Amino acid sequence: MNLRHKDIQPFHVMDILAKAKTMQEQGIDIIHLEIGEPDFATPEPINKAAISAIEDKQCFYTSSLGLKPLREKIAEYYQQHFDLQTQAENIVITAGASGALLLVLGAILDANDSIMLAAPGYPCNTNFAKFLDINTCSVEVDETTNYQLSADLIKQHWHDGIKAVILASPANPTGTLIYSDKLREIYQWLEQKEATLIVDEIYHQLVYDMPVSTALSVSENIIVINSFSKYYQMTGWRLGWCVVPEKLIATMDKLSQNLFLAASTPAQYGALAAFSPETQEILQQRRETLKQRRDFLLEAIKNLGFKVPVKPQGAFYIYADCSLLTSDSFQFCMDLLQYAHVAITPGIDFGSNKPEKFVRFSYTQDLLVLKEAINRIKKFISKNS
Ligand SMILES: Cc1ncc(COP(=O)(O)O)c(C=O)c1O
Repeated sequence: MNLRHKDIQPFHVMDILAKAKTMQEQGIDIIHLEIGEPDFATPEPINKAAISAIEDKQCFYTSSLGLKPLREKIAEYYQQHFDLQTQAENIVITAGASGALLLVLGAILDANDSIMLAAPGYPCNTNFAKFLDINTCSVEVDETTNYQLSADLIKQHWHDGIKAVILASPANPTGTLIYSDKLREIYQWLEQKEATLIVDEIYHQLVYDMPVSTALSVSENIIVINSFSKYYQMTGWRLGWCVVPEKLIATMDKLSQNLFLAASTPAQYGALAAFSPETQEILQQRRETLKQRRDFLLEAIKNLGFKVPVKPQGAFYIYADCSLLTSDSFQFCMDLLQYAHVAITPGIDFGSNKPEKFVRFSYTQDLLVLKEAINRIKKFISKNS
């Protein structure tokens, strides 16, 4: 039987997590640097807003496109910070960025159309495509383009049937950004080809060395994906959004009604407090903490023999080349867990671009914990060299 899920692989990091769990049950202290979510709890103003909505019995379905005041707040955010014309009508509230990606792919692509994406990249995009019978054109990227697709790479790999290109900035697993001039070149070329540009900005705001920007400043025809998961530290609430041009709103509404009915109502009420000055102050402090962690971890792993060809400017990941230490990054991750009790993610989870040479570190732990992880990795490497 040819079931459409047959080519969808579970994350390989799950093997590592399962092993870590068994070890923890045996009382072993594991340091988790494999997980893609911050260690910070959801900011208290968001919790309070959600709790009061529940106490007020506000838990009915919202409109499929989302709670109007939340859509207004998000639109205001783009208007005030980036001087854009974004309207509440352009915002679709979704079940995380995951829900947004699924709806957007369903809205703009047909079975047997193709989508271009970068490798390494976020693995679920390929799997969403497979699930919708969309073909993927995976293009290998490296330090020469900041681990991002470029207009030249897109032109080189272009073929008939490609209807959309998806980028992420900051990207998972590399933490690299795509700059506006490069994005504009890509957008202009795709416009000629009548193809859509989707930019996943789930790590938007988690940028450390430069001002935050959005692809919407290049064109409001670009589809932007975002989420409350990462910067707002609401991973488990399952809430995200996308910004779409007017012509797509009715389709997004129809798909959202059928696939999800609506995003979580208490989560949407909670998120109304996400843009308050009180919450923003908490989040900005946490961003500073993440920056300090990045600065520490980046230097520390380089001193251990990992190579990081491009400084990650955002998100909370470092994608490190471990080829001086091992020829098999998956086995390296397994051994590191077994003997040093540190969990990291093998490159195989991010596509087929030399995965055996790379591992991903998430700096989603306190600085002291990161320091302990480095001590453990150092001992492990010196024993094995
Ligand atoms: C690049 C990227 N996009 C989308 C997602 C999905 O996030 P969520 O559905 O929690 O918003 C993730 C999660 O790690 C991600 O890294």
